[in-house]
Amino acid sequence: SYQPLIAPSILSADFARLDREIERIPSADWIHVDVMDGHFVPNLSFGAPVAKAVHAVTDKPMDCHLMIEDPARWVGDYVDAGAFNVTFHVEATDDPRGVAELLHSKGCKAGISIKPGTPVEPYLELLDTVDVVLVMSVEPGFGGQKFMPEVLDKVRTLRAEIDRRGVDVLIQIDGGIDASTIGASADAGCDVFVAGSAVYGAPDPDAKVEALRAEALD
Ligand code: DX5
Ligand code: ZN
Repeated sequence: SYQPLIAPSILSADFARLDREIERIPSADWIHVDVMDGHFVPNLSFGAPVAKAVHAVTDKPMDCHLMIEDPARWVGDYVDAGAFNVTFHVEATDDPRGVAELLHSKGCKAGISIKPGTPVEPYLELLDTVDVVLVMSVEPGFGGQKFMPEVLDKVRTLRAEIDRRGVDVLIQIDGGIDASTIGASADAGCDVFVAGSAVYGAPDPDAKVEALRAEALD
């Protein structure tokens, strides 16, 4: 049966209180950690030392989303920090298969991400290797942006190809996910839903996680 996973992004949390911010979301399935280098995206967040500190205060799977250049150089730091999955952008490397294989060699799951303007077809051949495909539904770099429904065509393409091949690959969507956009994303075939501002902007973040999951199942 369909089991949607909710992955709150700590990008919208209070960075001075990350332990408490994570304690506020006991219903979360994964903790989504957005790493930005100020080069691949025009914003800077935090790096592996902060990811390591996050991992130290939670038993939940830590999902690192690297919005950085030259991911091959850095993915090992996020494996060492405790990530169970590291997702990198295909636009940032000439060798996404090699980066995924590097992650697997270190015992970590591997995800590829595509920006809203990046077509999915050239990357379908990687479905034999990767564990996650993250379809960005905003331009990466900032929380709180508006969901771009046109990316759901790429989700439908992925859903059909994953099902046709019978491979074990999760489709993740990230950007502008809230109660009004998660249903269409679930219908298109997403498995994992990142939500930053919707969760941490809510008076009760854990109730929002539960509400988002209910909407995805609806
Ligand atoms: C954006 C990040 C997202 C961000 C989502 O570049 O990858 O994970 O935190 O934030 P919301 O849910 O507010 O769009
Ligand atoms: Zn993200």
